Amino acid sequence: MRHIVVLTGAGISAESGIKTFRDADGLWEGHDIMEVASPQGWERNTKKVLQFYNERRKQLLTVEPNPAHLAIVKLEEKYKVSVVTQNIDDLHERAGSTNVTHLHGELLKVRSTFNENLVMDWRSDLNPGDFCEHNFQLRPHVVWFGEAVPMFPVAAEITEKADILIIIGTSLQVYPAAALIDFVKQGTKIYFIDPKPTISPGPDITVISEKASVGVPNLVDQLLEITT
Ligand code: APR
Repeated sequence: MRHIVVLTGAGISAESGIKTFRDADGLWEGHDIMEVASPQGWERNTKKVLQFYNERRKQLLTVEPNPAHLAIVKLEEKYKVSVVTQNIDDLHERAGSTNVTHLHGELLKVRSTFNENLVMDWRSDLNPGDFCEHNFQLRPHVVWFGEAVPMFPVAAEITEKADILIIIGTSLQVYPAAALIDFVKQGTKIYFIDPKPTISPGPDITVISEKASVGVPNLVDQLLEITT
């Protein structure tokens, strides 16, 4: 079975109603990144950081996967599919994708500030005073600016094995995630779907300047036809 790796960013969830980060009116517009998404911000104002993620979590529970998330699931009919997402939402899982790696963590999980391996599901608000079993404050299970990306080596290994790489809705501004594209074998076919693509077409790179809800189902139909 041929292996498709799908690398997604905030753009794939935009049409579900979740703001991207860097578009005009993006999530960072109204927020100082270092205040709400860095270890320093957490030290300075834990309550503010918790509120920021509480709002994100609340909203996530009101939205649904869109046709782009659903189309990726269809690829599993004929391909081995690995989704590597920069998103902290669970829309790929809710759509039905069976193999999802989260590079930047998961909004519906929290972890201990004492032991980073102590991770638990969390669907309600997280507040100061919510402690782990060792009596240390719980924090969102997300990767903040300046922090290590523990899932990167896993994602790189997956990407190395791709026969086809599909990149959807990411500005490719944030490393190391953006470097994943460098891990594909030579000759791997790459498709990039984004209304404002940040990479140029090349011999192995097809750029599809469309919204995910249009571009992804079309590409998936093509890829499913190829194998019949
Ligand atoms: N369909 C597809 N792509 C879209 C759509 C859409 N409907 N709407 C916007 N986009 C594209 C934008 O053109 C842009 O290229 O989504 C991309 C969003 O880019 P960013 O906001 O930079 O999001 P992302 O690349 O996922 O950010 C990476 O940075 O802030 C951190 O940790 C955060 O995981 C995030 C990382």
